[in-house]
Parts: sequence; C-alpha cells; structure tokens
Amino acid sequence: MKIVLASDHAGIEHKKRIKELISSMGHTFIDVGTHTAESVDYPDYGQKGSEKITSGEAELGIFICGTGIGICMSANKIKGIRGAVCWNTETARLAREHNNANVLCIGARFISIEDAVEIARTFIETPASGDPRHIRRVNKIKALDERSTSGDC
Ligand code: RB5
Repeated sequence: MKIVLASDHAGIEHKKRIKELISSMGHTFIDVGTHTAESVDYPDYGQKGSEKITSGEAELGIFICGTGIGICMSANKIKGIRGAVCWNTETARLAREHNNANVLCIGARFISIEDAVEIARTFIETPASGDPRHIRRVNKIKALDERSTSGDC
C-alpha cells in the first residue's frame, strides 16, 4: 500500500519515525513535506497530502501538526477525504472500522512519538468494516461531500 505523509513544522520528528514504521510494515510512502523545522502553514500540507489520495497516488494518509486539528480540518475540505484526529490505538481502529477514515491526523504536541507509531500501525492494519450499518453511514458522509460541492447547501 502507498501512504502519503504530510506535516507542518510541528510534526517532522513524528513523521520520521512513522516513515520507518511504514517501511518496516512493507508499505511505501510519499512525503509531501514539510521537511524542515521552519514555520509553515498546515493547510498547505493538508491540501497537498489530500490531493495524493484523491488523485489515486496514495490509498491512506497520515497527517501531523501540533494538535492534529488544523491539518485535519484542512484535509476534510477536500472532497473524498475522511480525516480523523486519533489520540490512541482504539480511536484509530474505530476511525478505520466504523468511519472508513482515509486520513489519520495526529497532534505531535500531545502524543509521544512512540504512541504515534502505534496509532499509525493500528490505522494502517485495520480494514474498514463491511457491516451494512457502517457502510450506510459512510455513504451518508459521502453524500454530504457531494452536496457541499454542488452549491445546494
Ligand atoms: C503551529 O504552531 C500549530 O498551530 C499547528 O501545528 C497546529 O496545531 C494547528 O492546528
């Protein structure tokens, strides 16, 4: 599987370790930046990372900023992205199983690198549930996505 990684300056150390995890799991990654500690704007990276998913170049994304919140809000503005801020392995598992999240967002200033690696591992390993009730609910999210870009809102 190909996974896209994106972060602002707050997330670069976490991102390095998550890259090692992805390689150790036999997956590949694209890193859309940022690559240095110089201050940047998280929406730019939420957008760049999301577009790798909507173009089909990557299947899942792992996005990191200080809280995980700003980059997640930005990603969720892109049609087709279902980003979830997760703070432990249980929320990561449920985000995949119940919500079919395709982007994991992590807050580097609140989650240790070690915990972030385990959260990312769980997110990558967990498939979306085939249970009809979860599929129905995710389809309703997709319908909202269609509506918000159609001018009907
Ligand atoms: C950057 O200082 C910080 O605002 C950003 O990483 C993130 O936490 C925003 O949601």
